[in-house]
Amino acid sequence: MKAIVFTRFGDPEKVLELKTLPDPTPPGPGEVVVRVTRRQLHPGNLMMVRGKFNIPLPADGFLIPGADGVGVVETVGEGVDSASVKPGMRVIFNPSPGAWAERIRTRAELVTPIPDDLPDAIAVQMLPNAVIALMLLREAHRAVPDAGRDIPILLNAAGSSVARFLTIAAHRRGLKVMGTVRSENGANILSRRFPDLPVVSTADPDWLEQLRHAAGSRPLQVIMDPVGGAMIGDLVSLLDDGGTLLLYGAMSSNPITFPFAAVPREIMLKGVSSSRWVQNTSAEQRRDDVAEAIEIGRNSPEKFEVEAEYDLARFANAVEHLERENRNGAILLASD
Ligand SMILES: NC(=O)c1ccc[n+]([C@@H]2O[C@H](COP(=O)([O-])OP(=O)(O)OC[C@H]3O[C@@H](n4cnc5c(N)ncnc54)[C@H](OP(=O)(O)O)[C@@H]3O)[C@@H](O)[C@H]2O)c1
Repeated sequence: MKAIVFTRFGDPEKVLELKTLPDPTPPGPGEVVVRVTRRQLHPGNLMMVRGKFNIPLPADGFLIPGADGVGVVETVGEGVDSASVKPGMRVIFNPSPGAWAERIRTRAELVTPIPDDLPDAIAVQMLPNAVIALMLLREAHRAVPDAGRDIPILLNAAGSSVARFLTIAAHRRGLKVMGTVRSENGANILSRRFPDLPVVSTADPDWLEQLRHAAGSRPLQVIMDPVGGAMIGDLVSLLDDGGTLLLYGAMSSNPITFPFAAVPREIMLKGVSSSRWVQNTSAEQRRDDVAEAIEIGRNSPEKFEVEAEYDLARFANAVEHLERENRNGAILLASD
């Protein structure tokens, strides 16, 4: 099978290469082999290749990026319940390291069949975004039980795939959200997608004032941020005493700066990572999360456009495209 691999950390364009590898060995008990048809590229995939996640490289081996995708079950191991997963079924899977390969062997419990009316291009975007988005909403509720009921939750980088999923999931729960994006163009795109969502561009000199106004001049209870950097100081200034900043990414290359003025207030900063989903979430909750992801994909496909799809062999173009500013949708890697 074809796979994208790397043997050292570094710039994706320098260290990633296309290789032909043996197919996965047959599935063991409770496992399945999936022929992967599509994967969404995520900023986190490139952070992993750049060595930001403290994942050790095997001494004389390689790693394959990607942990999620959509595909067709080819073979199942002993003990896999054929009522839930069997050969020929279209499925989504997550988390299963090594998804930028034509085939993957993974645990059957991480694989979920998808309905025929959910196209690959939408299905592939749902699960990874749902996992972190729904974890964030649960953390927000844990930190401030009435977060979003009256005062909106602020989503920074609100045009991202995760934030779009978050917006829909929050609205389903009757919660209010508002968003910041880094450009006027980004604000226009997001407002077309979500006409009722208050959106502010941080390129406007008075963006903090605009946010305060959108929140009815009340301090915020919860902010969700995947950017980090110097902007954290400004975001924290919007929080109420007892407010919470949920950090779930680091798209800025600059360190987080924290204003001294925030110190006397009881503000909580908490990191949230989807890598804890399997470990910290009950099997029942995970089933509910996957079901919600599929439902959102079926009900709101127009919110999850694809900007470009590249064949696996053209991974370098896909990676370059992912890092462009002002994208208007997902970047997919396909292998049919
Ligand atoms: N903690 C976890 O487990 C977890 C899981 C999934 C995702 N994440 C994080 O969530 C974030 C979004 O992921 P995604 O897959 O949804 O991304 P995506 O769809 O590729 O979108 C990225 C968005 O971030 C914006 N952006 C990029 N750099 C920025 C910067 N320096 N300042 C402000 N905005 C910036 C882009 O804005 P423009 O439109 O202006 O280019 C774009 O809207 C990433 O940080 C990712 O690592 C974390």
